[in-house]
Amino acid sequence: MTKAMAFNEYGDADVLRPIDIELPAPGPGQVRVAVRAVGVNPLDHKVRSGAMVDMFPVAFPAVPGYELAGVVEAVGEDVSGLAPGDEVFGAVMGGAYAEQVLVPAGQLSRKPASLGWEEAAALPVAAETAERALDVLGVQPGETLLVHGAAGGVGTVLLQFARARGITVIGTASEANHDHLRALGAIPVAYGDGLAERVRAVAPDGVDRALDAVGQGGVLPLSVELTGGADRVLTIADFVGAEQYGIRFTGGTEGASYHQRAYATALALHEAGTLRLPLHRVLPLAEAAEGQRISEGGHLRGKVVLTV
Ligand SMILES: NC(=O)c1ccc[n+]([C@@H]2O[C@H](COP(=O)([O-])OP(=O)(O)OC[C@H]3O[C@@H](n4cnc5c(N)ncnc54)[C@H](OP(=O)(O)O)[C@@H]3O)[C@@H](O)[C@H]2O)c1
Repeated sequence: MTKAMAFNEYGDADVLRPIDIELPAPGPGQVRVAVRAVGVNPLDHKVRSGAMVDMFPVAFPAVPGYELAGVVEAVGEDVSGLAPGDEVFGAVMGGAYAEQVLVPAGQLSRKPASLGWEEAAALPVAAETAERALDVLGVQPGETLLVHGAAGGVGTVLLQFARARGITVIGTASEANHDHLRALGAIPVAYGDGLAERVRAVAPDGVDRALDAVGQGGVLPLSVELTGGADRVLTIADFVGAEQYGIRFTGGTEGASYHQRAYATALALHEAGTLRLPLHRVLPLAEAAEGQRISEGGHLRGKVVLTV
C-alpha cells in the first residue's frame, strides 16, 4: 500500500485527506518511483476546486501532483536507460502527492547528485512550460521579451531559459520581487496602472514579443499594443482571453514533447552553476492542504514543494 494525499470531492483545500492506494506494477514504458519531493502548481488547486472540471475532469479519489523527484523502484517492459536505485525527476499527469507513483519513462530525467530533491521536484513543470512557451512564441536571440508574472514558478525558470537563448527579458512582478528578477538577469517592472508607460521607459526601442503567465489585469490587449500584433503574444494562463483577443494559448497539447529538451536546458544551466530554483516554502506531504493554500494566494517567489 502507498500513502497519498487525495480528494474525494471538489472543494477548498480541506478536502485533501490521507488515503492508502494500491499501485499496479509498472506497465510498458512506465517507471515506479519512490517520491522524495513533489512540486505544487496552480493547476493542483484549480483541479481540486472543480474550476477546471470541463477541461480536466478527475476520477475520485483524485491524487494531485504533476512533478516529482525520487528514486526508481521498478521499471516496466520497454524501459531502457533507467534502473532501480536511479535518482530521477520528472513530470506526470497527476498522482505525485504520494509515497510512490507510476511515471512515463520519457518524462523522467536522471537527477544529478548536486541537485537537491526539493529543487529537482520544482523543475519539471516550469522547465517544460518554459521551453515550450519560448518555442511556440518563436522569440529569437537578440529580441526583447515581456513576461507577465515573471516571479512565479514558471516565470523564474522561463527568464533563465530566455536569457540563455540571448533574449532580453522585461518581467512584471510586485516590488518585493524586483531584486529576485534582477538576480535572474531580467529588467523588473511593477504591474498595475501605468504598466505600458513603464515598459516603454525601460524598452525605448520597443518590445518584440510578450508572454502572459498571469491571466488577469488586461495584460493581453496591452501586450498586443506593445508588441504590435496578436501573433507576437502568447498566454499560458488565460484560455478565454486568448480567444477573445485572437492570441495563442499553449497548454501542452501541441503534439511535440518538450520534456527531455527542457530538462537538458535546465541541467546545462545547473552544471554551469547558474540555475536558480528558489523555494517559496517546503512542507511535509501531510501538509499538502497548506501548500495548496499558499499557492492559491498567488504571490509566490519560486515554488512550494512537499517532501515525502
Ligand atoms: N498552459 C500551461 O501549460 C501552463 C503550465 C504551467 C502553469 N500554467 C499557468 O501559468 C500561471 C503561472 O503559473 P506559476 O506556476 O508560475 O504560478 P505561481 O508560481 O503561483 O506564480 C504566480 C506569480 O504571479 C505573480 N503575480 C500575481 N499577480 C500578478 C499580476 N497582476 N501581474 C504580474 N504578476 C503577478 C506573482 O508575483 P508577485 O508576488 O510579484 O505578485 C507570482 O510570482 C498559472 O495560471 C498556471 O496555472 C500554465
